[in-house]
Amino acid sequence: MRVFVTGATGFIGSSVVQELIAAGHQVLGLARSEDGAQSLTAAGAQVQRGDLADLQALRSAASTADAVIHTAFIHDFSKFQEVCEIDRQAIETLGAALAGSSRPLLVSAGIGPRAQGRVATEDTDPLTDARMPRVSEQAALALQSKGVRVSVMRLPQVHDPLKAGLITYLIALAREKGVSAYVGDGLNRWAAVHRLDCARLYKLALEKGTAGARYHVVAEEGVSLRDIAESIGRGLNIPVVSKSPEEAPAHFGWLAFFASIDMPASGALTQKWLGWHPTGPSLISDLDQARYLET
Ligand SMILES: NC(=O)c1ccc[n+]([C@@H]2O[C@H](COP(=O)([O-])OP(=O)(O)OC[C@H]3O[C@@H](n4cnc5c(N)ncnc54)[C@H](OP(=O)(O)O)[C@@H]3O)[C@@H](O)[C@H]2O)c1
Repeated sequence: MRVFVTGATGFIGSSVVQELIAAGHQVLGLARSEDGAQSLTAAGAQVQRGDLADLQALRSAASTADAVIHTAFIHDFSKFQEVCEIDRQAIETLGAALAGSSRPLLVSAGIGPRAQGRVATEDTDPLTDARMPRVSEQAALALQSKGVRVSVMRLPQVHDPLKAGLITYLIALAREKGVSAYVGDGLNRWAAVHRLDCARLYKLALEKGTAGARYHVVAEEGVSLRDIAESIGRGLNIPVVSKSPEEAPAHFGWLAFFASIDMPASGALTQKWLGWHPTGPSLISDLDQARYLET
């Protein structure tokens, strides 16, 4: 297949590109910079230059592809509402280019929060919360009624020894504050997956996926924030402390909401549906050998 990949230069997208090319697919990757274009060419992909907000570039690339994988996102949390709107428009544009065909669209989304103590499964809806303006999943699934063969990749914390989703920001915060913190008893959990297992699942979903499916890219159902904070503390050689819910906003800033919530998720149905068997190292194992902790 000829696959158009947005975010092809990113943490997840670049490993998806490698996985697709290794499996014999052709990749057309979106790049917004010359460096990004060069890295895609070196990886064996073709390049579509353009910005996520350049809807004409997205439309024309998607219309030449047999499938589209959307992993681009502008991670600027200072204008989150605005970047979520750019994401929504990009998803609708990609969908419109594929409407009425059997060409699949995979859209990346987060594992949203659930009621406290409930493990998210593929068939449950995320809670709506005004602090979570991201609507990638909703925008994607709405495309089904327009004849788009769309499915959603719900992502937990995706890790390797260099990066680990929101935990990368927790590490930077711990380094800045001189303590590694969790909220309350720290027993709230985040699900996780290794980067290469994640890339393999995108390929499987592309090749074998079902329209309308919500896949959980989840290897570990939930790792406690306390275990995460303790690993960061070991890595940075700094104290590990608990912050009360009242102290959390001052300590964590924009991360306070995420640091406080329970986001466990099961990938059991996804593993069964797609024959996916994650084999990568655990989150704590990757954090414990994170090379960036040594710098
Ligand atoms: N990593 C995780 O643990 C995790 C967890 C939950 C959800 N997700 C979601 O998974 C997706 C991929 O995440 P990631 O970790 O791979 O993110 P990332 O490393 O930040 O990569 C983002 C990608 O989007 C591209 N991009 C950013 N702004 C752009 C713009 N204005 N125009 C065009 N492209 C632009 C980046 O291009 P440049 O290379 O030029 O910057 C890069 O290719 C995102 O939707 C993310 O929110 C990730």
